[in-house]
Amino acid sequence: MKKTILTGDRPTGKLHLGHYAGSLLNRIKLQEQHNQFIMIADTQALTDNAENPAKIRENVLEVALDYLAIGIDPNKTTIFIQSLIPELAELTMYFLNLVTLARLQRNPTVKSEMAQKGFGADVPAGFLIYPISQAADILAFKADLVPVGEDQLPMIEQANEIVEKFNRFYGPVFKKVKAELSETGRLPGIDGKSKMSKSLDNAIYLSDTAEEIKKKVMDMYTDPGHIHAEDPGKVEGNIVFSYLDAFGADKKELEKIKERYQRGGLGDVALKEKLINILEELINPIRERREILSKNPKAIMSMLETGSEKARSVAKETLSEAKKAMRLNYFSE
Ligand code: TRP
Repeated sequence: MKKTILTGDRPTGKLHLGHYAGSLLNRIKLQEQHNQFIMIADTQALTDNAENPAKIRENVLEVALDYLAIGIDPNKTTIFIQSLIPELAELTMYFLNLVTLARLQRNPTVKSEMAQKGFGADVPAGFLIYPISQAADILAFKADLVPVGEDQLPMIEQANEIVEKFNRFYGPVFKKVKAELSETGRLPGIDGKSKMSKSLDNAIYLSDTAEEIKKKVMDMYTDPGHIHAEDPGKVEGNIVFSYLDAFGADKKELEKIKERYQRGGLGDVALKEKLINILEELINPIRERREILSKNPKAIMSMLETGSEKARSVAKETLSEAKKAMRLNYFSE
């Protein structure tokens, strides 16, 4: 059975390996069998970048380039821009009535983002409610599956609570959604922090040059107790191994490397060189395709325009259904 997939990214920077392992790889697979929508969440990006619209504008194109370069195919996936679908904003307005302030303040992802950004009580209202707008994104497309990294699980939970309440108040319009998590799980940043992110400045980008990849891997944390190559080293908590686990295709070889590292006799530089080769092999073709595609931004924008029109017609349909259920269909009864 063909399922509907909806997911998205905030255009606050280029996409990185954390996105790749957490969700992009899943999307490349899912587009083959399902009806997939991918949204560039410019409206959501503005919730904590209100003063910087130029940054969001630029990164819409960068994110679209990343999608195409990794193999998201616009003939199979509808790629669109959030702000071009005003129906999402309207649906958000109705959903706002179904969620309490206390519930929003309990959202663990929002909580940790607020702490990281130091917002406190001065959090922009739009930022605090973004999980509600994200529920509107998901539900407007009646998505079955949402391929995201695990940090987005609270958003799915929030969306499902809205489904329950909306349907209870107004009738059965929406259905519950499921997160599609990657096998790799969350990829740590190169500094060992739990999440790779642009704002933490600890990411390897899908567009990084060979030199940048090399430098970032050489800077990675390993086992601080592993000083000489002969010393036995730790694999758990060793960032280089987290990356090898995520991106090293040859699992048998990786097991051998782990054994040797733990026994002693494998130096950090040699270990890191293996990772550099693996990452360069992965990123090189992406970087090359990106180069070529970036020469024709007009073609990308036109693809986004077409995708957004298609996405809008779906969201319109759902909104009118929702409004009918809410008795807001004044002239079409
Ligand atoms: N919050 C997501 C992120 O930070 C982006 C996003 C917006 C999204 N709307 C969505 C993801 C809907 C999945 C479904 O990357």
